[in-house]
Amino acid sequence: MTLCFATNNPHKREEIAALLGDEFVLKTLAEIGCTDELPETQPTIAGNARQKAAYVWDHFGVSCFADDTGLEVDALNGEPGVYSARYAGEPADSVRNVAKLLQNLEGQTDRRARFRTVITLVLDGQYHDFEGVVEGEILTGQRGTGGFGYDPVFQPQGAEQTFAEMPMDQKGAISHRGRAFRKLVEFLKNRQERIDKRQETRD
Ligand code: IMP
Repeated sequence: MTLCFATNNPHKREEIAALLGDEFVLKTLAEIGCTDELPETQPTIAGNARQKAAYVWDHFGVSCFADDTGLEVDALNGEPGVYSARYAGEPADSVRNVAKLLQNLEGQTDRRARFRTVITLVLDGQYHDFEGVVEGEILTGQRGTGGFGYDPVFQPQGAEQTFAEMPMDQKGAISHRGRAFRKLVEFLKNRQERIDKRQETRD
């Protein structure tokens, strides 16, 4: 099955491609002729995922999925949440975002946080949402050089490494995006099986 992954983030494409295997062919936005900046103006993570998927479907008529993620920190009342990419203002900058986060948590003992991803799939005009969450904590300093965004300060529950210290497949096995993405893949596989069975009974 061919689907467009509505993202311009090469890290995410790499992560998703590693999880996906050969079963699905992913097209980039460029490959479907979309060079537009996708709108992300909704006040929620789910709203943004849907807005991006709907944009591709409405303008290009291509089945696709889009994801949106936020880091929710308990001691900051769920911030930066939907504003995670631009927490330290425009232009989006991970180094400044992480610095602001660490500063805002200075002296704070409650370091609980979670990444939340919502993926919206639009398949032949029908919308489906898939959510993935990973609980963890924000460290007081940075560790590791892999990954992106808040990875060097996020340590998942039960792990001794930050996301930035983990190999990509280890991060994908427990990450918010990995969890949401596996739900998406399961949905697509089940759907494909139902289609194949109907086809068999017809033949
Ligand atoms: P997006 O909606 O996936 O683009 O995510 C919004 C922001 O959340 C990104 O700009 C990153 O700062 C942060 N983020 C998303 N996913 C991850 C991740 O896997 N690790 C670290 N930060 C992430």
